[in-house]
Amino acid sequence: MVSWNTPAVNARANEILSKMTLAEKAAQMVQVPFAYVTREEALMWAKRGAGSFLHVLGNDAREIQAAAMGTRLGIPVLFGIDAIHGHGLNQQAVIFPSQLAAACSWNPEIAEEMGRVTAREVAADGLHWTFSPVLCLGRDTRWGRIDETFGEDPYLAGELGAAIVRGYQGDDISDGEHILACAKHYIGYGDAVGGRDSVDTEMTFRKLKETFLPPFARAVEAGVATIMTAYGSIDGTPFTASERAMRTILRDELGFAGFVVTDWDNVASLVNNQHVAADIDEASLLAARAGNDMMMTTTAFYESAIRLVESGKLDESVLDEAVRNILRVKIAMGLLERPQDRGTPACLGCAEHRESALAAARESVTLLKNDGALPLDPSIRSIAVIGANADDIRAQYGDWTYFTHPHPSPKTTPARPYVTLLEGVQMLAEPHGIAVTYARGCGPLPNEADDLDAAVAAAQDADFIVLAVGDVIEQSGEFRDRADLSLSNRQEELFFRLRALGKPVVTVLIATKPLCMTKVAEESAAFIAAFNGGMYGGQAVAEAIFGALNPSGKLPISFPRHSGQIPVYYNSMPGWHGGKYVDLPDTPLFVFGEGLSYTSFAYENVHVDAQTLQLSVRLTNTGARAGSETAQVYVRDLVSSVITPVKRLIAFQKVTLEAGESRELVFQLKRDDFSLLLPDELRVVEPGEFTLFVGGSSKDGDLLRQNINLS
Ligand code: GLC
Repeated sequence: MVSWNTPAVNARANEILSKMTLAEKAAQMVQVPFAYVTREEALMWAKRGAGSFLHVLGNDAREIQAAAMGTRLGIPVLFGIDAIHGHGLNQQAVIFPSQLAAACSWNPEIAEEMGRVTAREVAADGLHWTFSPVLCLGRDTRWGRIDETFGEDPYLAGELGAAIVRGYQGDDISDGEHILACAKHYIGYGDAVGGRDSVDTEMTFRKLKETFLPPFARAVEAGVATIMTAYGSIDGTPFTASERAMRTILRDELGFAGFVVTDWDNVASLVNNQHVAADIDEASLLAARAGNDMMMTTTAFYESAIRLVESGKLDESVLDEAVRNILRVKIAMGLLERPQDRGTPACLGCAEHRESALAAARESVTLLKNDGALPLDPSIRSIAVIGANADDIRAQYGDWTYFTHPHPSPKTTPARPYVTLLEGVQMLAEPHGIAVTYARGCGPLPNEADDLDAAVAAAQDADFIVLAVGDVIEQSGEFRDRADLSLSNRQEELFFRLRALGKPVVTVLIATKPLCMTKVAEESAAFIAAFNGGMYGGQAVAEAIFGALNPSGKLPISFPRHSGQIPVYYNSMPGWHGGKYVDLPDTPLFVFGEGLSYTSFAYENVHVDAQTLQLSVRLTNTGARAGSETAQVYVRDLVSSVITPVKRLIAFQKVTLEAGESRELVFQLKRDDFSLLLPDELRVVEPGEFTLFVGGSSKDGDLLRQNINLS
């Protein structure tokens, strides 16, 4: 793990800082949006000593770096980019499953490998830094950025977040194969009221520390280099202006030693959107004092910071501290020695990397219902694949790729080896001589190509139907929240017309988030959540349909039955009357941690030692084929001085067992797993009785339980 704050790094940073002018310090705190300035302006900023540029590739980056190296102090520029499930803005790069899809793997090794491969491909492009991982929690699925999260749970998000940070940064970040990571968006951004992006979260700091801080704490423990402040606000204070969030909690309590970058134009947003500053000088003062070290795209901060210091409104020591944080990271990553071309260009999209994307897609496939229709019976001789999303790589990729964020660099043809669901079914069917027909039917948005009659006709003579439903990027992402998460356009009508043919319909959700599709799921012979599976998402789902893959995915997020049920998550807080609706069951359609296999697993002999805090359970593969199972451990504090969740994930293990194989799983729990945050934000373990649960989902019926007493 990289250390950003060794004595040697500090000494070198102070030595450089001591030579810098006020103007050079102010410039070092600016991150320039390459796509929004002219080439001349970009070079002017490089010569001014700008600390960073974002969204620059290839020769543009080389030209900027050369100009920066030619300045008086020659401090290299940091190039940052959104490479959040692969180096997606580059058309030759490998595209992994989205974070939400990858979280279905419940496998930190998959997350770490995603980070490792992405880092190699970003470095190959001459860049140094990715704005990833997102450690927001996906609890309100109306929010447009659910796909960017690792789901609803703080512990799972923390384990996967720490893993991908390790993958990005490695043990020696100066080796040219690794890049800086950025834990974002600090903090609680996904819990904005109504799921409406960037509005106030209306929460307390206790709630923030109890629910939203743990994943960031894990990332800091993993040595994350940078943290990005969120757009939103906490109880009326913009995160970008919150000294408590940044200096007290992040620096003093968590010991974060990297640097903080704002999100896009957050400084100006304090004036234009959140109206807590009358002008850019007031906003710059708030942002600098709160502890933001680098200002993303607010280039006006440069003149503003100089004015503020020269007028005595801002002490230059505040800039010194910010610049020192930035310089330490640049020094520790070896940027001063190797400012450019640190990577291996030939690795972009290479076979080894594509294998990693396929492995991630396979472990992300989540089977949620199966009445026996899967795996495909060998007697099936013809399959109809229906639905626009079955053959739409844009829908399969989801957000933050060259489709959604076209890059200013010259276009190159997209790397082909992606496999849509249709192509995957064709690939698997062909060797068996199974006929495959395709009809678009309709997609998530009205289109003149919609033709449900043709789809029904195409399915009429098939033995088996695979229907893809979901959403498209126009319905999701930044600035695109949704109030109604039911299947849009005529997708549900299409399903029931196909269902009326009286043959098995396997429904595959290719979407950025769980959608409200209760009747479709209940009437499907089988239901697979694929979310955005990346370049091999279609192949992985097809392999599951044909039985070549035994699915092992488990949901990292709850499926609401209805938009009116949102937000719904497993670790809810109990209350009087139990929070039940009169017109809807109070449980989600599919729960956190849920996922089926083509084999079956049995849990028995759970034992907990209250002294050693060791939990053991015997897991057996009771079915006829090998399979992987994620055993989950939850805790419930039976009596606590503040209300605590009905259950809370504290450990998990994913194991592969042969048919009939049994294994003793041992979980070494920690006393901190039983702690809570008092109203004064002190974390304590209150003596008393706790229930520990272990099993294959968060559903009570899937869990064995054992009570223990802690003193
Ligand atoms: C965007 C996003 C953030 C991203 C940044 C740079 O607005 O909020 O996640 O990393 O700007 O593109």
